[in-house]
Amino acid sequence: MSDLLASLPKPARFLETSRTDVWWKEPLATFLGLGFFVVYGTWAVFQGVDYTYGPYMSPLYGLEIFGDSHHALLGPKPGWWPAFVPFSPALLIAWAPAGFRLTCYYYRGAYYKAFWADPVSCAVGEPRTSYLGERWFPLVLQNIHRYFLYMALALMFILVWDAIVATQFDDGFGIGVGTILIAVNTVLIGGYTFGCHSLRHLVGGRFNKLPRSTIGKNCYECVSAANRNHMKWAWASLIMVLVCDIYIRLCCAGIITDLRIL
Ligand code: FES
Repeated sequence: MSDLLASLPKPARFLETSRTDVWWKEPLATFLGLGFFVVYGTWAVFQGVDYTYGPYMSPLYGLEIFGDSHHALLGPKPGWWPAFVPFSPALLIAWAPAGFRLTCYYYRGAYYKAFWADPVSCAVGEPRTSYLGERWFPLVLQNIHRYFLYMALALMFILVWDAIVATQFDDGFGIGVGTILIAVNTVLIGGYTFGCHSLRHLVGGRFNKLPRSTIGKNCYECVSAANRNHMKWAWASLIMVLVCDIYIRLCCAGIITDLRIL
């Protein structure tokens, strides 16, 4: 085996490879997809307006702690907010889901390849020769993922609550296109969150033994099922967050009309 490994050609220069497949397709798609989300998401969270429409709340802004909409938990912008800091309700909460995604094991693998070319793909030349892994600063900070998981689990309650509120129109219970989008978004973020590797470790392998109780086994099986498609849940939920935010902004701008189904 060691002879075999020793005989494999080692790429010498950056992007040099003997691969003949379209290996650059995936890192390029990741670069464009994540790049767009980062640019749009940053723009959206600093807007501070047009994040609610009727009973709908943009997932980039929930939980709204302070703000001008009727969703706000503690009322409008507080007096102690520093004048030199632009105010947006999302700034108080968006860091939690953003940190959860930033430190996610799947996203780490994806953006290390797409943004840092470290390596850009398997058996493709790298721009550097040393490898420090995630044992040193700053990448060692990625280990806080498990704490972001606790916050993401708490935010699941907020998402479910926002989906329920999205059925409460001025004239009573109803379902609009926005209600459906917000409900689908909640399901997709649930699939992503409950498939987290850290959660799987927590419910199944914390003591390096699988749980014996029926409840423990079932929890482990459920998390494992979601975990098998973690990448798909990650992308689907990311796209849906964008769709919901854009939909609400377009409704606010009067560019589209929210279609009431019920
Ligand atoms: Fe992806 Fe935890 S590993 S969310």
